Amino acid sequence: MKIEEHKSLEALTTLRACGTARYFCIVGNVSELSEALQFARAEGVPLHILGGGSNMLVGEFDGLLIKLNLCGMEWSDRGETVLVKVASGEGWDAFVEETVTRGLYGVENLSGIPGTVGAAPIQNIGAYGAEVKDVIHAVDVFDTGEMRVRTLTRSECRFGYRTSIFKTSEGKGLIVVAVTFLLAKTGTPNISYKDLTRRFGTRSPSSLSLGEVRRAVLAVRREKFPPLDGYGTAGSFFKNPIVTREVYERLAAAHPTLPAFPIPEGGVKLSLAWILDKALGLKGFRKGAVGLYEKQPLVLVNFGGATAAEVESFAKEIAERVREKIGIEIEWEVEKLS
Ligand code: EPU
Repeated sequence: MKIEEHKSLEALTTLRACGTARYFCIVGNVSELSEALQFARAEGVPLHILGGGSNMLVGEFDGLLIKLNLCGMEWSDRGETVLVKVASGEGWDAFVEETVTRGLYGVENLSGIPGTVGAAPIQNIGAYGAEVKDVIHAVDVFDTGEMRVRTLTRSECRFGYRTSIFKTSEGKGLIVVAVTFLLAKTGTPNISYKDLTRRFGTRSPSSLSLGEVRRAVLAVRREKFPPLDGYGTAGSFFKNPIVTREVYERLAAAHPTLPAFPIPEGGVKLSLAWILDKALGLKGFRKGAVGLYEKQPLVLVNFGGATAAEVESFAKEIAERVREKIGIEIEWEVEKLS
């Protein structure tokens, strides 16, 4: 295992904002991971795990950044269902494609999301009416306190909207090394999300194949998200804000068409894309090399050459404008490392 120093991160994150890591290494198995941790301890520096780099803004990181290259998928037939254990370094969409090829239901609506399998449970990725927590059976983690691999059940992961135990102080010492999914051999696709319903017109969900659903999701994504090869982007940069019913009612009085969804965790989730677009007129707003994408303002774009500090200051300005005009706080969906 080779430790690189002063590694430039521009090519390692999809936002492509300039930044560096004091130390960087790629690990291919758990024993290399343990070696890397010992190096960080000996040097007295913090460490951070890089998945696909698709949800991260990295400035100057004075620690060890570890790229996990753990690979492999183990499929086991359970009759009506299939359990599949996937190593965390596998690409998320390659895994989804494989499930669709095998005719297994559960992750087809999550087609086209960039990043690795190991990153999926951390922020409980979700799209088009599906969240990954609903098909996660267990998560294997390397516990940096105990220096061993252990398994967390789904409930131990404490999933919520774009969150999990891995985002809390309790989960900070846990590194995801594999995720086990429970997929079904039969099912009816969920096309209830507006963009999918529109696409399929009058066709009934039960007449649709998994391949058709995957292709539709990929087509919808192509319409909304900038291509990763043409722009620096990390998907949604902010989370959709969750507010109390009282706050929602106050906002709805002023903005009657504001899309809002009551959520099981409590409160009401508001559409920040709508707020940025319709209430603040910020769709396509740009400052220098950073802007909000003209087709989906929740997506922040680096048009080329932006530094992490420029991205951060742009994001702060957006949050400030939302605070002033709407009176709510917004949080980043993207993780910041510096
Ligand atoms: N809207 C506008 N103007 C726009 C775009 C959208 O007003 O330019 C309004 C529309 O009313 C639309 C609503 O905003 O119906 C919601 O937009 P969209 O369906 O694109 O979804 P979103 O809430 O903005 C979330 C996720 C995405 C996920 C989509 C689809 C978060 C932070 N984002 O976006 O996830 O792909 O739903 O399910 O929850 C990500 O997390 O990185 C991500 C891309």
